[in-house]
Amino acid sequence: MNHSSPLNGQRTWIVGASEGIGLAMVSQLLNQNSYVVASARKAETHPELLKLKSDYPEYLELLDIDVTLTETIPEKSEQACSFFKGLDNWIYNVGTYHPMHLADWDLKHFDFMTQTNYSGAVHLMHALLPKFKDQPNAKWLWNVSLASDFGLPYGGGYSAPKAALMNLAESLQPELAEAGIQLKAVNHGFVKTRLTAKNDFAMLGLMEPEAAAEKIIHALSKDTFETRFPFNLAFILGTMKRLPKSWALALTKRMLNNG
Ligand SMILES: NC(=O)c1ccc[n+]([C@@H]2O[C@H](COP(=O)([O-])OP(=O)(O)OC[C@H]3O[C@@H](n4cnc5c(N)ncnc54)[C@H](OP(=O)(O)O)[C@@H]3O)[C@@H](O)[C@H]2O)c1
Repeated sequence: MNHSSPLNGQRTWIVGASEGIGLAMVSQLLNQNSYVVASARKAETHPELLKLKSDYPEYLELLDIDVTLTETIPEKSEQACSFFKGLDNWIYNVGTYHPMHLADWDLKHFDFMTQTNYSGAVHLMHALLPKFKDQPNAKWLWNVSLASDFGLPYGGGYSAPKAALMNLAESLQPELAEAGIQLKAVNHGFVKTRLTAKNDFAMLGLMEPEAAAEKIIHALSKDTFETRFPFNLAFILGTMKRLPKSWALALTKRMLNNG
């Protein structure tokens, strides 16, 4: 165990903790002597989370939550806060991805991505604000995506709610800071998880979930609002965002797979 970590002894609720980056964050936080509430739709019966629970019985609590069932969110938030008598950090890591061509547009997928990639965070922050307001050193971290920089072909159902989440984070940061809550946004690139397994193209800078988790956890203890990685993809997408739209769209037109 790493006892010198700034997260030593802190209490963190990770929503979206059962797979990929979220699961790697749970492991790493436990290894830093942190208390973790790990949530996903079936967190309480998830084999890998149960294994971690048996390894760290006093440090890990599992809580089922489906962020699309918004009426359950106030009660779930209450429960998450009750395990360790309060929370220091909340990480919103939920995200779903269904790339679609015009020919296979499915409204259910659009709605689901809007709920998981954006509205879930809104409902949670609403329920959590009163609980964090009087908490010293309170931190919220939202795992957004470099995809929020610019809408790329076929991925708009995913990236549009992520862009909304980033915009919301920018809007809320000053007021939350006044209320004593540090809000952080992480915009990172491709990570090898079940999400990117849906991509049929070469992914620049593809990372392992453990490496991404390490950088995200580090972002929680930094003073900066936004953390972006890896450098190359962050630079390319950041540039696309600033280019005249006609130039950027000429580039994305070349990404269409018409043949
Ligand atoms: N992978 C990448 O390349 C990449 C790049 C940039 C940003 N991100 C972001 O990183 C985060 C983690 O992604 P990942 O790649 O690790 O994906 P993942 O392995 O699919 O993990 C997503 C997590 O969200 C949870 N989740 C999905 N729907 C949910 C719902 N309705 N209610 C509660 N939890 C739900 C999943 O749990 P259950 O399904 O078990 O409920 C899982 O724990 C996402 O926000 C994603 O957008 C990923």
